[in-house]
Amino acid sequence: MAERSGGIEDDTFGGRYPTSHERMTGLLWDASYHDGPAPWDIGRPQPAIVRVASKGGFAGAVLDAGCGTGENALHVASLGLSVLGVDVAETALAMARQKAADRGIEVEFAVADVFHMERLGRRFKTVMDCGLFHTFDANERPEYVASLASMTENDGTLYVLCFSDEGPDTGPHPVSGEELRAAFNTSIVWNVLDVERDRVQTRFHDNGAPAWFATIKRI
Ligand SMILES: C[S@@+](CC[C@H](N)C(=O)[O-])C[C@H]1O[C@@H](n2cnc3c(N)ncnc32)[C@H](O)[C@@H]1O
Repeated sequence: MAERSGGIEDDTFGGRYPTSHERMTGLLWDASYHDGPAPWDIGRPQPAIVRVASKGGFAGAVLDAGCGTGENALHVASLGLSVLGVDVAETALAMARQKAADRGIEVEFAVADVFHMERLGRRFKTVMDCGLFHTFDANERPEYVASLASMTENDGTLYVLCFSDEGPDTGPHPVSGEELRAAFNTSIVWNVLDVERDRVQTRFHDNGAPAWFATIKRI
């Protein structure tokens, strides 16, 4: 067994390190999908993703990091792009595959740990992260950002939709604009082009929660 950020890699976690969220809750991410829809699982794509996709913001091979039950991946794939959604929660992936079959959408879903995407041996022109970055703590972020760099093509684009700390009614993992920029600006391979105020829809916010929508370029 090995340790990272106090986490233990063992068979309970399918041979991967538990994330800070899993250590904090004492539950695997998969458990979020066992008893009805998770708070973030709104049954439709995030409006921010629909908006950017409608403006041609997705190109080439697309990765949805932490895709959950796949609504964002399915939306982008329905526009004719090649999309892979990855997640550590097999229950969510099974739901995503069922939706793809029901809707007749060609899209790929695979179990993968975003901290070890090199195991897939694939690179992507566009990567989206809807609600994953903000679940990682300050120890995990540098490793996640490095892993994202290894899976994103040069000149590729990363979109991050995460909770912001600008209230009222902030989400459970509020991130400041400075924190978000700093996570990527500390690396020479990323260029943060834009961090816009946005909303992230949840099952518990009538008009969504305050969010950042970041557009980040892989140099
Ligand atoms: C807040 S949910 C968002 C899900 C989806 N993007 C959405 O918008 O509905 C975060 C997702 O990231 C997944 N996740 C957490 N840690 C991960 C990791 N290390 N590798 C891959 N997926 C992870 C969780 O299982 C969960 O499905």
